[in-house]
Amino acid sequence: MKKVLITRRLIRESEDKASKLFDAKFNTNDELYSQKKIIEMSEGFDGILSSLTEKLDAETINQLPDSVKIISNFAVGFGNIDLEAAKNRGIAVTNTPEVLSDATAEIGILLILGACRRASEGIESAKEGGWKWSADYLIGKQLTGTRLGILGMGRIGQKIAKIAKSLGMVIHYHNRSKLSEDKEQGATYHDSIKSLFSVSDVLSICCPATKETENLINKETVEYFPKGAVITNVARGDIVDDEALIDALNRRKIYAAGLDVYKNEPNLNAGYLKIPSAFVLPHLGSATKDTRIAMGNLAIDNLDEFFRTGNCINKVN
Ligand code: GLV
Repeated sequence: MKKVLITRRLIRESEDKASKLFDAKFNTNDELYSQKKIIEMSEGFDGILSSLTEKLDAETINQLPDSVKIISNFAVGFGNIDLEAAKNRGIAVTNTPEVLSDATAEIGILLILGACRRASEGIESAKEGGWKWSADYLIGKQLTGTRLGILGMGRIGQKIAKIAKSLGMVIHYHNRSKLSEDKEQGATYHDSIKSLFSVSDVLSICCPATKETENLINKETVEYFPKGAVITNVARGDIVDDEALIDALNRRKIYAAGLDVYKNEPNLNAGYLKIPSAFVLPHLGSATKDTRIAMGNLAIDNLDEFFRTGNCINKVN
């Protein structure tokens, strides 16, 4: 049996599946392993099932024992792993696409609703009690008729577009390439981010974090938006320059933000906490039981496929 180090606890169903297929080492206390500990623990292991809480940078990957041939990441995103370094060491990296698109799109919609309808302020007022209702109390931004820009029209972006359209939003998008009409579902394509941002009353960031998308929301690009736009991010924190967004929120250039992901998670930039219109969640995108089981099972299937065939359909490097 192949030896697999599973760095974080999985839902029981997935751990049971892993036990049947591999000689699996579980993290029963679900502690956060340091990079040094992962290097030490993986001695003699054939594969690692990692999570987005572990930063497997080049320095860490270069010190992994030669026995490790695959890192199966329990996430669709793989910004926590240096793909090049893994490739250079002959280590395959895999991810868990598709199975989390629905759950993540739901959170994407929650971010849009929460930011536009001032949910953070509303929750706080409701908990305090004694709020004074008036005709203009906590007035927010209505979605119906509002233009939604989707940055990255992959599976999650398309699902958000579908739900948002049913809420009456008018969909625009930017992608590396224009989608077929069938996938566009009436959405308008923009071949540059400047063009997309200039019509985005609300933006939903759904693209992967790469070198090209790092800090795509920055001091210059926030100015492309209509005044009072809303920016939401269900993808990765690295895509947003926090200082630029916080400054734009403070100046009311940007009306509100809805964020599920951050640079340096779990330590989000404290500036967001001082902004009443920031609707912030603790990286809940894929957090439903069904989805987490499906992700765990897929991460295990990826390992199994790789051990059996030497390749894997979900290999990303
Ligand atoms: C969650 O954020 C994921 O990338 O799977």
